[in-house]
Amino acid sequence: MKKKVMLVFGTRPEAIKMCPLVKELKSRANFETIVCVTGQHREMLRQVLEVFEVLPDYDFDIMKSGQDLFDVTSAVMQKMKILLREVKPDVVLVHGDTSTTFSAALSCFYMNIPVGHVEAGLRTYNIHSPYPEEFNRQAVGIVAKYSFAPTETAKQNLIREGKSPETVFVTGNTAIDALKFTVKESYSHAYINWAEGSRLILITAHRRENLGDPMRHMFSAIKRIAEQFPDIKVLYPIHMNPAVRSVANEILSGLDRIKIIEPLDVVDFHNFLARAYLILTDSGGIQEEAPSLGKPVLVMRDTTERPEGVAAGTLKLVGTDEHAIYNSFRQLLTDKTAYENMSLAVNPYGDGFAALKIANILEA
Ligand code: UD1
Ligand code: UDP
Repeated sequence: MKKKVMLVFGTRPEAIKMCPLVKELKSRANFETIVCVTGQHREMLRQVLEVFEVLPDYDFDIMKSGQDLFDVTSAVMQKMKILLREVKPDVVLVHGDTSTTFSAALSCFYMNIPVGHVEAGLRTYNIHSPYPEEFNRQAVGIVAKYSFAPTETAKQNLIREGKSPETVFVTGNTAIDALKFTVKESYSHAYINWAEGSRLILITAHRRENLGDPMRHMFSAIKRIAEQFPDIKVLYPIHMNPAVRSVANEILSGLDRIKIIEPLDVVDFHNFLARAYLILTDSGGIQEEAPSLGKPVLVMRDTTERPEGVAAGTLKLVGTDEHAIYNSFRQLLTDKTAYENMSLAVNPYGDGFAALKIANILEA
């Protein structure tokens, strides 16, 4: 009898990291692999599904512009209740720390269905940062029967919290599997040509706790640097959240060496990362991808759940204070040694075979 494995995800980063696993599970005869997307994101999710050619079996299509945490959590739970009753999966796999992840895991708990948590054990131990992600992943951690930790540090977090060691597996992060699929030497793009001859700076920002003033400070620092360094060009593929867009347009407009563009699909974005000089971001996933490409990242947050990248030297936590961001950004543009110290390619997040390892464990 085939085991019914259902994967549930809803946002761009979950999709990027779950699609390699969908493909691996679908290639194995022992599984009936069912893909459910909540549609917490719409366009940004569709971009990823198209690149990986994954066609969901179910799409809750819940996204509303300006949705809040109640909207997402309650919509996912109501739809999960009906779907779990219909499909009766043997195991449900969720990823990371979004509202989709939390609501899907809680629904499974209510229905007594085993949960496998992919990218388990990341922690800041500050429930407000990142918000609400730190709560989500801790809560999913309580419910999960199988925990797929990307690193030994993540595994140790879970063991300290009382997880039994035989249910926690170190697999690497499936983000690195995705990178192997997307990054190509021969890649080219009109924006890469636009930046030819300049140092390309890539920006992303979207964290809920950074909306408003922190984001204003981040963008002001970036604008000041761009005005002072004529040899840099800044590309900012902007998140679709209207609250992000209004601040970015307010602060970053008016300089032709800063381009705010629509979200890139993951093939474009990963290849842009590979060609960038430096990245400034508050994203989680980019903190895993950049070390493997040897690209320095200034992390515009107060905490990180990815200490491995900091220890490796690729990530520097700079907070959201305008002067702190300005000073660190300036240093990496002017101090060659500081730049080179942060540019060594290391792979703390695995060898690109995380999906294969997770599938092997599920099969066993
Ligand atoms: C969500 C996750 C966050 C993750 C991020 C990845 C939660 C609470 N937050 O935050 O952990 O890091 O996704 O990007 O689960 N929008 C669109 N089209 C899209 C996507 C978003 O228009 O394809 C707009 C909508 O107006 C939406 C808003 O962005 O209401 C915010 O989306 P939401 O998923 O609620 O929050 P994110 O900040 O994206
Ligand atoms: N990404 C993308 N297009 C973009 C910006 C980011 O495909 O325009 C990818 C990036 O490579 C990473 C993921 O999206 O894999 C990060 O998503 P996001 O920052 O939205 O969420 P987080 O990782 O912070 O949860």
